[in-house]
Amino acid sequence: HLNDQVRITEVGPRDGLQNEKKIIPLATKIELIERLAKTGLTDIEAGSFVAPKWVPQMSDSSEILERILKHPPTRNPIAYSFLAPNAKGFDNAMAILGKYPTSYDTFESQPPPPLGSQPTSDSIARNPYIEMSVFAAATESFTQKNLNCDIETSLLRFKEVIQGAKAAGLRVRAYISVVLGCPFEGQDVDPRRVAEIATDLLEMGADEIDLGDTTGMGTGPTTRNLLKAMHAAGIRNEDIVMHFHDTYGQALVNTAVSLEHGIRSFDSSVGGLGGCPYSPGATGNVATEDMVYFLDSLGMNSGVDLDAIADIGEWITKEIGKPNASSVGKALIGK
Ligand code: HMG
Ligand code: MG
Repeated sequence: HLNDQVRITEVGPRDGLQNEKKIIPLATKIELIERLAKTGLTDIEAGSFVAPKWVPQMSDSSEILERILKHPPTRNPIAYSFLAPNAKGFDNAMAILGKYPTSYDTFESQPPPPLGSQPTSDSIARNPYIEMSVFAAATESFTQKNLNCDIETSLLRFKEVIQGAKAAGLRVRAYISVVLGCPFEGQDVDPRRVAEIATDLLEMGADEIDLGDTTGMGTGPTTRNLLKAMHAAGIRNEDIVMHFHDTYGQALVNTAVSLEHGIRSFDSSVGGLGGCPYSPGATGNVATEDMVYFLDSLGMNSGVDLDAIADIGEWITKEIGKPNASSVGKALIGK
């Protein structure tokens, strides 16, 4: 009886790489994105328009966006998303988007991305394939570290970004971090506070809420509690994405609980890459290989080619000199 279609957003090129100390060449990042685009993925988070002095690894996101716009997807529509914490980040993204009016036009007759809420007809004419993401957090201390301001101020800034993006015809994702545990305030994050912030962001015009277990502290029961609180606040499952880091090895358990609850959209990172610069000790997102293998085992369809993803995981982890953190990836490569 379960709808078996699941959307995976590959966050490796952003979440996976943002915390790497050694600067990764632009060509490697582009190769990663272009290889991922051939695996059946429909959603790829490609970069982040944040302050380069805070997150130097993401400072070439303009070039990445430009490359995507120069070589737009033609047959297989893929949504590429970019983070923007404030008007400055959004303006930097728009400066590039504005240079490629013709690549918008080529999309005019194309259908919108198949999953998630539908963009307006106006937005389809602009660009259905580039999305912006804002990123709030559920605790004051994490917000201070990550964004250098309080929650209220961060929401005012996001409102600007969301409204600007909607006016430009872009879909908007709104993250909320540390929803199942905060590196500074511990495990007891109030799910009602998360639901409140989610409601604010949806009212500002965000198309979906992405719940980030930044620290990987989430468990089956706390995941279930959080989703119940979201439901109690009237937030629809269709508007929720789950973003599990696997620091405590619970990401697939939490995914199973979310699937049971009716969630059909998840983030993962090839090779299990990732970590947040403002969450000490946090490791990568759940590996895309593990996620696809798990969904396949349930007979659920993500449309992603497992072998192709496993090859990319092996390649990119070697490329940046990290161990492959995907159990499934290692098993498949070792065969
Ligand atoms: P601030 O220092 O308070 O900002 O940082 P400011 O307005 O005072 O500006 C300081 C300098 O930064 C100025 O430059 C600005 O122009 C510049 P200066 O005059 O010193 O040369 N600046 C910018 N430059 C480029 N792009 C921008 C931008 N904004 C200001 N957008 C700010 C505030 C939000 C910018 C800063 O705190 C920041 O960039 N934070 C980024 C944090 C980040 O990227 N965190 C990781 C992503 S979130 C995450 O990983 C969690 C997630 O995966 C979900 C989960 O796991 O939970 C999404
Ligand atoms: Mg993350």
